[in-house]
Amino acid sequence: MFFSADGLYSKTERAVMNLGAVRSEYQGDSIEYLPGDPHRAAELWLESALRTEAEATAFSLATHGSDGHVSVRVVLAKSISAAGVTFFTNGLSHKGEQLEKNPVAAGVFFWPKHARQLRFEGPVTRVSDAEADEYFASRPHESQVASAVSRQSTPLDSYASLKQRFDAARAEFAGKHVPRPPHWGGYIVALDRVEFWQGQPSRLHQRLLYIRQPDGSYARTWLEP
Ligand SMILES: Cc1cc2nc3c(=O)[nH]c(=O)nc-3n(C[C@H](O)[C@H](O)[C@H](O)COP(=O)(O)O)c2cc1C
Repeated sequence: MFFSADGLYSKTERAVMNLGAVRSEYQGDSIEYLPGDPHRAAELWLESALRTEAEATAFSLATHGSDGHVSVRVVLAKSISAAGVTFFTNGLSHKGEQLEKNPVAAGVFFWPKHARQLRFEGPVTRVSDAEADEYFASRPHESQVASAVSRQSTPLDSYASLKQRFDAARAEFAGKHVPRPPHWGGYIVALDRVEFWQGQPSRLHQRLLYIRQPDGSYARTWLEP
């Protein structure tokens, strides 16, 4: 059920920050050619984004629990392949719990310098322990220590207590190998549906949707903006 905002807030309260007049005119390239495989097409757009954007690999990841509660947060893509988009996180986090119960997700990259959005949706699988070990070992030592001590998404007593845990672990692991916590690992969002959105003048944006077919090939459809 939806409530009218007028019923919840007075007009004055709602007028505090009016963003209605904030507008950008999008002037991007036109989608001339994109390969038939969406992961190849995504690679091309990521290569361009890496040259221009501050956080080109950051995407918003939406998950939902079996209670229907939807959550979204930013994570970093670590690879793109025919299997999907890979990111790493703490499996005991809120997103980890939601993915455990409901292994499906949607993601979106936004690359403002190119006026581009890349959306993808599909089932989620875990990367192998060997792959998680390999990526964990490639991270800076302090990030490894932080991942080892963080109980991501659980209530924190105080920032000082987290710092203490971190300092103790840093001393313990000084000059030593930090083992990957068993709950820390990688997830792959499969590319069942992938949409390339290219901003254009006058809001006549271009949208190209790829839908995976039962035989693994992709059907492509242009969508109205
Ligand atoms: C730019 C950026 C990159 C991030 N990258 C990651 C990441 O790769 N993995 C991760 O677990 N959290 C990452 N985070 C933190 C998440 O947004 C989020 O706060 C955290 O994963 C807890 O989410 P959850 O409680 O929904 O599980 C990043 C945040 C930002 C702003």
